[in-house]
Amino acid sequence: MDKDVIIACDFAGKNECLDFLSAFGDEKPFVKIGMELYYSAGPEIVRELKARGLRVFLDLKIHDIPNTAKKSMKVLSELGVDICNLHAAGGSAMMRAALEGLTRPDGTRPLLIAVTQLTSTNADTLRNELLITSGMEETVVSYAKNAMSSGLDGVVCSPLEAPAIKAACGPKFIAVTPGVRFAGGDAGDQSRIATPAKARELGSDFIVMGRPITAAADPVEAYRRARSEFLGI
Ligand code: C5P
Repeated sequence: MDKDVIIACDFAGKNECLDFLSAFGDEKPFVKIGMELYYSAGPEIVRELKARGLRVFLDLKIHDIPNTAKKSMKVLSELGVDICNLHAAGGSAMMRAALEGLTRPDGTRPLLIAVTQLTSTNADTLRNELLITSGMEETVVSYAKNAMSSGLDGVVCSPLEAPAIKAACGPKFIAVTPGVRFAGGDAGDQSRIATPAKARELGSDFIVMGRPITAAADPVEAYRRARSEFLGI
């Protein structure tokens, strides 16, 4: 899949999401459905967006015992999503089981990527709450290597960590990066952020942007700006 901007459709329900997308007309953005929308609108919203020809990253961040992860992934795979994810913190056995569950009888499957550390987690939380004494970059790279050796396609990480992950896991290992803000934009609850252009420079394959697009006065213009800065077009 080519590099692109993914819009985080963090809406409370199906109608809000479809209203938002109606402004895009024939443009078919790559969208991310997260927990808020999925828990309120269910698999129906995924089917609806796929039927409209949109690419969908289903961001449910699975983190459970291997058997549950495997069976959950089987259900998600049948929805025809393009990317789904889990927490690398669940360990290699869980990641391998998830991959197995995701693989359809014909051998095809959505891309599977792992969350390393949430982009809202800062060094202080890592050390004092998660009790991880390695630094952020070392932790993220180590989680990425576990994901790669478990057969996953890539990771979700901060753009700032993409170079170290690419160096450790190779250029084909996908870096999907939230925590992206326009220059001078409000960081909100994100900690490890970069602009779209910087994310491109650092090697992100996909940037995920929510509020800078969904809460913009003109979301379509903000989306086009993000694509033009990220893709250099
Ligand atoms: O609004 P904002 O641009 O901060 O949205 C970022 C999106 O990416 C949210 O949907 C959030 O759940 C998701 N995400 C993240 N950090 C991760 C994984 C996913 O911010 N590590």
